[in-house]
Amino acid sequence: MKKLRILCLAHEDLVPPDRVPTKFHNEEWRTENYVLSTLRGMGHDAEILGVRSDLGLLRSKVEELKPDIVFNLLEEFHDQPLYDQNIVSFLELIPIPYTGCNPRGMILSRDKALARKVLTYHRIPGPDFGVFRKGRAIRRPKRLSFPLFIKSQVEEASLGISQSSIVASDRDFQERVAFMHEKHNTDVIAEEYIEGRELYVGVLGNERLTVLPIWELLFENMPEGAPRIATRRVKWDAKYQKRHGIASRAADGISPDLRARIEGMCRRTYRALGITGYARIDLRLKASGEVFIIEANPNPEIANGEDFADSALAAGFSYESLLQRILSLGLRKSA
Ligand SMILES: Nc1ncnc2c1ncn2[C@@H]1O[C@H](COP(=O)(O)OP(=O)(O)O)[C@@H](O)[C@H]1O
Ligand SMILES: [Mg+2]
Repeated sequence: MKKLRILCLAHEDLVPPDRVPTKFHNEEWRTENYVLSTLRGMGHDAEILGVRSDLGLLRSKVEELKPDIVFNLLEEFHDQPLYDQNIVSFLELIPIPYTGCNPRGMILSRDKALARKVLTYHRIPGPDFGVFRKGRAIRRPKRLSFPLFIKSQVEEASLGISQSSIVASDRDFQERVAFMHEKHNTDVIAEEYIEGRELYVGVLGNERLTVLPIWELLFENMPEGAPRIATRRVKWDAKYQKRHGIASRAADGISPDLRARIEGMCRRTYRALGITGYARIDLRLKASGEVFIIEANPNPEIANGEDFADSALAAGFSYESLLQRILSLGLRKSA
């Protein structure tokens, strides 16, 4: 393994402290710390740069350090979550190799309506949907029947997603769409609500793809009748997770046929959206065996101990070898 000079790129607020305490749990910088310390432990010469809105800083750091590659952990710029895709374009223009997804894959995946349109062309199943623009009249087309799932067209991390995202009447529909327009200031998409199991599938690669084991988010202690969806609290509130038995692990009882179908859908989704590097595909599986792609997440969370790294481990990739693979994919776009 060649020793590399690596510049980790992260948000200014997520740069780990110089002296990291030996024990830490949910610190916001834990992903950055895992990546940085693991790369160093592997013998690479790794440094981290925190940025918020200064492109000049990024450029001069790259010129000064002359890294072999940028390890891209940035998820926003100028406080805009969508601008991370432009930073990747900037890295291409410098030019400097980087890990993770290319700009086009990020643009296509992040816009949930655009992604769904592309996937529909490729006959990859997903929920039927409509787009409701901010500032326009909110009228439900007849083809969309209840229950519907209301979410932002571009937000991530379940921002704005709660039990009230599921609506079953025109009144609730109007209210929730208007609420999302106001509160989150984005266009909104309303999707057919898919009742079923929540699955996550990691994919790695540029051309030849590796599909990681199918992972499932389990709701082992939810109140009777409560919908099993990944709300903001389900994803991020440790106490809530404990109380409601939220856990994730390799999905049980998936037949070889179903597994092959899910893996095929994930590969096709990854390719159709032009993703490179690594991504996590979110799916829902109905009791009937029908599978729906919910969304594709390029550059997903890669903290050690989170779903992507855990499913990689189950496939035999230690955390070190996962990061090494991500680096190699970034260095050889055709790998
Ligand atoms: N059409 C849908 N039917 C059922 N549940 C959905 C649907 N869309 C989203 N969800 C639930 O909401 C969660 C977050 O939605 P998702 O589109 O993945 O947005 P985010 O980018 O915030 O992760 C999903 O993981 C799933 O639990
Ligand atoms: Mg998601």
